[in-house]
Amino acid sequence: MSYDDRFSPEWEPLLEAAWEAWGNAYAPYSHFRVGAALAFPGGQIVAGCNVENAAYPVGLCAERGAISAAVARGLRRPGPVALVVVTEAESLTPPCGACRQVLAEFSAELLILLANRQGRVLHRLGDLLPHAFTGRHLGILD
Ligand code: THU
Repeated sequence: MSYDDRFSPEWEPLLEAAWEAWGNAYAPYSHFRVGAALAFPGGQIVAGCNVENAAYPVGLCAERGAISAAVARGLRRPGPVALVVVTEAESLTPPCGACRQVLAEFSAELLILLANRQGRVLHRLGDLLPHAFTGRHLGILD
C-alpha cells in the first residue's frame, strides 16, 4: 500500500467504496450525504455512511459508522492506514471533532483524503487533531 503517494491509484478502490456508501447515506433531515471508507494494512476496505435520526443528536457520522463496522469485523489494530471522506458539497468535508477523536483511538498516523466531484485534498489525522487524548494518558499503553 502506498497511500502517501498523493492521489496514487491506490486511492481509487477506496474512493469507489466511499461513493458507494455515500449513495446509501440516510440523511432525510440535513440532505447532506457523506460516504467514508477506511483501508487497513491487509488491504481490507470498510465503508460507512451517515445515518440520521428524527432525534437529531443521535444521528451518526459516516466516519464513525465505518470504524464501528471495521471493529465489528475484527479489524482493530493495526488500525486503518487511510480514510476517504466524500460528499457532493462544494467545499471538501473534513471529519468532525468527535470523529477525529474516535479515529485517533485506532490510528494516529491515518491519512485522510477528502473528495468531492471537483477535487481532492490530503490530510493527516495528526494535523487535524494534534495532541490527541489517548489511552496513554490513562496509563494504558497501546
Ligand atoms: N457528517 C458526517 O457524516 N461526516 C462528517 O465528516 C461531517 C458531518 C454528517 C452528520 C450529519 O448527518 C450531516 O453530515 C450534516 O451534519
